[in-house]
Amino acid sequence: MKKQADDLSLDRIVQAWGTPEQAVLPLLHHCMEGKNYISDADVARISRVTGLSSSDILGIGTFYQHFVFHPVGKNSVRVCLTTPCLFKGGNHLFRTISKTLGIGLEETTPDGLFTLYPAQCLGQCSAAPSFMINEDVYVDFPVEKIPDLFEEYRKGRVCQPVYPGGKPLANKPVVFEGLMSAETMYLEGYRRKKGYQAFETLLKEGDPEKAIGEIERSGLAGRGGGAFPMYRKLQAIRKNPPPRYLICNADEGEPGTFKDRYIMERDPHSLIEGMLITANIIGSENGYIYVRAEYPHSLRILEKAIREAEEAGLLGDRILGTGFSFHLFLYRGAGAYICGEETSLINSLEGKRGYPRNKPPHISDVGLWGKPTEMQNVETLANVPSVLLKGGEWYAGLGNKKSPGTKLFCLSGHIAKPGLYEIPLGMSLRELIMDLGGGIPNGRSLKALLPAGSASKMLLPKHLDLSLDYPSIAEVGAFLGSASVIVMDDSVCMVDLSYWIAAFSHHESCGQCTPCRDGTEDVYEILVKIVRGEGKPEYLDLIKSIGFYMKEASICGLGTTAPNIPLSSIEYFEEEWKEHILHHHCPLGICPMGQREAFAFPPRRSRGVIGDLPLLNISMP
Ligand code: FES
Repeated sequence: MKKQADDLSLDRIVQAWGTPEQAVLPLLHHCMEGKNYISDADVARISRVTGLSSSDILGIGTFYQHFVFHPVGKNSVRVCLTTPCLFKGGNHLFRTISKTLGIGLEETTPDGLFTLYPAQCLGQCSAAPSFMINEDVYVDFPVEKIPDLFEEYRKGRVCQPVYPGGKPLANKPVVFEGLMSAETMYLEGYRRKKGYQAFETLLKEGDPEKAIGEIERSGLAGRGGGAFPMYRKLQAIRKNPPPRYLICNADEGEPGTFKDRYIMERDPHSLIEGMLITANIIGSENGYIYVRAEYPHSLRILEKAIREAEEAGLLGDRILGTGFSFHLFLYRGAGAYICGEETSLINSLEGKRGYPRNKPPHISDVGLWGKPTEMQNVETLANVPSVLLKGGEWYAGLGNKKSPGTKLFCLSGHIAKPGLYEIPLGMSLRELIMDLGGGIPNGRSLKALLPAGSASKMLLPKHLDLSLDYPSIAEVGAFLGSASVIVMDDSVCMVDLSYWIAAFSHHESCGQCTPCRDGTEDVYEILVKIVRGEGKPEYLDLIKSIGFYMKEASICGLGTTAPNIPLSSIEYFEEEWKEHILHHHCPLGICPMGQREAFAFPPRRSRGVIGDLPLLNISMP
């Protein structure tokens, strides 16, 4: 029987990937194009070309927020409802959009033109609040112009083809000079800055051990949050037999984080060169960059950079005439915070639901398709060319003894100069916030800081003289994570903050393990009751007890870190919590207690499209 044209294009997608399973996410993305949802007929066609059952396809697809399996609006509107945006008027923005369209979250306008979705950080936090219409990104957009903007889309406005890529780095960089201009977006410009020299030298010398030694001397550690020494990972994987895979984790989903997006959009070749060097050291022939769905522009820029590198003979078979071959593939995530966890990412890359795996085995032994796998994040890999070019000692000397090198810090929230800063590790938190960041604006004072987005325990003004290095931050029970520093002034209510953080964790929990699945739900529901003015005295101990079990028993970092902000805010601001719980009153007048306005937080991902959460009627301040 003759195949339909559509099936032929789906067939091509299957052939482009390692296995039919791995093709499922690209196939689902393909079917979303043009109509923003996946029909029953699409599922049947994907089933036909992959040989997987329709229930398998739905089982995978419904895990990811980006995929929709019922008809929706022609234009997707995604409004960020995460803390940095909420601090900068995100709730007012959401209300205005909702009112303009006359719909709530996950609803479609009667004319079928718009569907409104929540977004969990679009990586635009320094210019918050932000939202997207299809692939157009809007930051700090004047709310009074919202009706006119939507009118343009009603008349058929199409996506803007060019994306500015954000402002340059906010201070003078040392390692990441490429972030200062758009020049390094292209191979020619990158080459002018000594691009690919470190890789070419490594190829010429053929001495990966020497390169590992240089990386060891540099003290370069994983910049995605783990801070594990890179050289030790390289040594571990080289002990295992090939094939070995290299994965770049570009699933930057931590609220308040946007540094990897900057690198991908302004200096993509530094990432590609870092991957080439790493692949050569570990003897890998195939690598993947797993990019989050919310970064369509990063994908487009990377795609172009990869084509440029291939055409220049820097990627592909027998690179620059040597025996080394390396093929690099882009894989698009589909809206799941959990896929930033390495084993979840691997499951997703294999075309499964993004559930984390138990460790050990570590991925250097059993990773992608059960083979040894090296995974690093964008920032770590983009550091590697400079480390080899200028030497490990040079790089180590940029930081302090405890944490060598520099680090990209994302500043957002209540700060005079939000943005991306490259700073030497060991600089004090005070210098970062008060000097580089310009302090707290509008005559307000600093109340607290979240040093690692939604993950770490919070810090207080008394911690301002802490040195920004991994061990010093750990001494006070916090961690740097991906260094997304969210600053909060004295107008922030700790219960309100905890409500939004709990809503985020609850929404993003993959639901695989009981402590995280039930814990995030219980903490969220308790907070719902508190902000509704239905708090009870025992709730504080209940949150502490649930938080304890989540930290002790969850499978992965999402569950173990989710209670950190509610718990630390109770530790530091117990009186504020008691006022809410015992007197049903927000001392700051911020919480939505008392006044109501229809607002329903969307259902949890692991339950698919239909959730069973109570509808909240919460007014947004
Ligand atoms: Fe809204 Fe990052 S873009 S919090």
